Amino acid sequence: MSLPFIFLVSLFAFIAQAQVPANETFKYVNEGEFGQYIIEYDGNYRPLDPFASPFQLAFYNTTPNAYTLAVRMGLRRSESLIRWVWEANRGNPVGENATFTFGTNGNLVLANADGRVAWQTNTRNKGVVGFKLLSNGNMVLYNSKGNFVWQSFHYPTDTLLVGQSLRVGGVTKLVSRASETENKDGSYSFVMEPKRLALYYKSKNSPKPIVYFTTSKLIDVGNGSLEHVTLNCYPENSANSAYDLALLYEPGNSISGEVWCMGGALHSF
Ligand SMILES: *[C@@H]1O[C@H](CO)[C@@H](O)[C@H](O)[C@H]1NC(C)=O
Ligand SMILES: *[C@@H]1O[C@H](CO)[C@@H](O)[C@H](O)[C@H]1NC(C)=O
Ligand SMILES: *[C@@H]1O[C@H](CO)[C@@H](O)[C@H](O)[C@H]1NC(C)=O
Repeated sequence: MSLPFIFLVSLFAFIAQAQVPANETFKYVNEGEFGQYIIEYDGNYRPLDPFASPFQLAFYNTTPNAYTLAVRMGLRRSESLIRWVWEANRGNPVGENATFTFGTNGNLVLANADGRVAWQTNTRNKGVVGFKLLSNGNMVLYNSKGNFVWQSFHYPTDTLLVGQSLRVGGVTKLVSRASETENKDGSYSFVMEPKRLALYYKSKNSPKPIVYFTTSKLIDVGNGSLEHVTLNCYPENSANSAYDLALLYEPGNSISGEVWCMGGALHSF
């Protein structure tokens, strides 16, 4: 073989080898004692190490042996406000001794005890060098330049955190949970459509979703269309520690940049 060829081969090998350092990998097993707080849906949970106040990764269940890997928001001093804000595997629960693994190849995998994969990020050999749960609740896999190769903010389930979006080309709707005990898609959805945001309800009697609220009167995107809506948060004047929430949308024409205020106030942690 010629020298340049060998050089090229070793260069490719070097590029392909960008991988997660062994000391940054992890493997958690869904086993052991349950946590002590009362949590949303009144389930049991097992907290995992990744923590960025007030967010923490955990396994939880509301029916025996049917666990969801999720991000929890809230601390003990605000126990009644503890919420599940992101979920890996709605509708596809894992059992006792399931594993949550981040290997040197950069793939994040949730698997049952028998090895059956329930959920994964599909980021094997895509240049991932690390995992981090950020303080805004975004769980990210990043490359050597610090860019996000994968982020949980791109896969909302039924909740948007501040800074998180629905977006064309990604997830364009939030879907409610079936019931306290059943973690699968439920009857209600919040959908970003080209010209409006809409709330839908479907039931066994009406499998075709019925629209029961839209923003048609609140948003006029003109000749543009909604490409993303992002949840934003603005502190109210300092007297109380309340926040106003707003959905920011930019329909990609000169009308863009309007804010739809939801008007609600949420107390801070
Ligand atoms: C892994 O090792 C590197 C280099 O020694 C160090 O900078 C980094 O903090 C370590 N990571 C963990 C999670 O210990
Ligand atoms: C989980 O694994 C432990 C250790 O291997 C074992 O003792 C236990 O029976 C397993 N639990 C279940 C429900 O399979
Ligand atoms: C869309 O509307 C904006 C402002 O109303 C206008 O400036 C723009 O030319 C329009 N674009 C098209 C393709 O009609």
